[in-house]
Amino acid sequence: MTDDFAFNPFDEQTRRNPFPLYARARREHPIYPHPGLPITSVFRYADIQAILKDPVTWSNRFPPPPGIDPEKLPPPSMLGQDPPEHTRLRSLVNQAFTPRIIRRLEPRMYEIATDLLDHALQAREVDFVQAFTYPLPVIVIAEIIGIPAEDREQFKQWSDQAVENLGNALFAVPPPDRLERLSKLLGEMGAYFSALAEQRRRAPREDLLTGLVQAEVEGSRLTHDEMIRMLVLLLVAGNETTTTLIGNAVLELLAHQDELARLRAEPHLMPSAIEEVLRFSSPVQLDPRCATRRVEIGGHTIEPQQIVVNWLGSANHDEQVFDDAERFDVGRTENRHMAFGFGTHYCLGANLARLEAQVAIRTLLDRTRSFERTDGAPLPLHPSIVFRGVTRLPLRLEPR
Ligand code: HEM
Repeated sequence: MTDDFAFNPFDEQTRRNPFPLYARARREHPIYPHPGLPITSVFRYADIQAILKDPVTWSNRFPPPPGIDPEKLPPPSMLGQDPPEHTRLRSLVNQAFTPRIIRRLEPRMYEIATDLLDHALQAREVDFVQAFTYPLPVIVIAEIIGIPAEDREQFKQWSDQAVENLGNALFAVPPPDRLERLSKLLGEMGAYFSALAEQRRRAPREDLLTGLVQAEVEGSRLTHDEMIRMLVLLLVAGNETTTTLIGNAVLELLAHQDELARLRAEPHLMPSAIEEVLRFSSPVQLDPRCATRRVEIGGHTIEPQQIVVNWLGSANHDEQVFDDAERFDVGRTENRHMAFGFGTHYCLGANLARLEAQVAIRTLLDRTRSFERTDGAPLPLHPSIVFRGVTRLPLRLEPR
């Protein structure tokens, strides 16, 4: 029997609907070494969970791409560190993102969402990404950190550039100028944040930036460079992801009109509806790790320094874990999805992203009688294979 299975994460059809191929991979090739590449894809929930649980074997530090001088690479942020460095950095920011602290932001989130939506409703036909799903998370994170929201056009450019080709280099050689552009970008963001940090040193305020400037955990201050990398990470990690989540929520509700009607009729289902979007249309599809030693998984040997790509998007459709996994169900109760990862690097902003998406969709449902796509043309996909989402979403909004 010939085996015609192939998984190309750049293939457009696969990107638009990866789920049939994920299902086949889980059945036939749960551990899939990509031919000719030092990369192995992992598709089943249980395998992925075991990998993400074990940071000693599976590191978040990656070897430089072939032909790249490691000296030229920017040092990693917290996301690219393993314990114990990771633990120290994470403990500095954890308390700013506890459920209690995030809850307090809810009224302000409603204000921002309402304001953005009122503008969109005046226009009636908008690109919902530009008008709503992009600015909401940027304004919120800017206010948490304590950076002027007026600079958000600048953040958008930075954020877009930072995640543009995120993860694509795992499977393909990055564009030749990618590294240069990345270090220029980090230089610009670094200069911007350094200037703001200096202001807070002179005049502290009630914000995360002041907290970081004053950070001292077990007597060890955060170095200036670590602080800058943390700020860049916070700005970048939460924007595209939450924008994508809100956009995917709109798209899934449009694609499942019965579930949209159910959610309108039973608004208390909003939290489970957002969990279901996270599971069903996970904004972050993949989460890579690097082997620290020779290790066996599912009969395959992974050599030290080799990379495994954990397909969270596949894990979240695993029929071994989720009942009726291919059904979009806004009232799903058992939903242990891994859209925010698992274990040591579990998303710092999970509570924030959840609440923002709930507020966003509640505001949309409350203030519109209906919303629909202005045309049926295929929407442009995010250029990074890490993301499942669109960069433009033209909508017609009917106010109440
Ligand atoms: C729907 C929105 C979001 C999704 C789907 C998402 C997804 C993820 C995932 C999968 C990871 C794990 C990465 C790994 O295992 O290596 C992660 C980590 C992280 N996320 Fe999110 N994220 C979202 C929103 C946010 C927001 C709003 C913030 C802002 C604070 C944020 C900040 C971070 C940070 C700082 C990390 C690294 C944590 C660590 O290394 O300990 N994320 N996120």
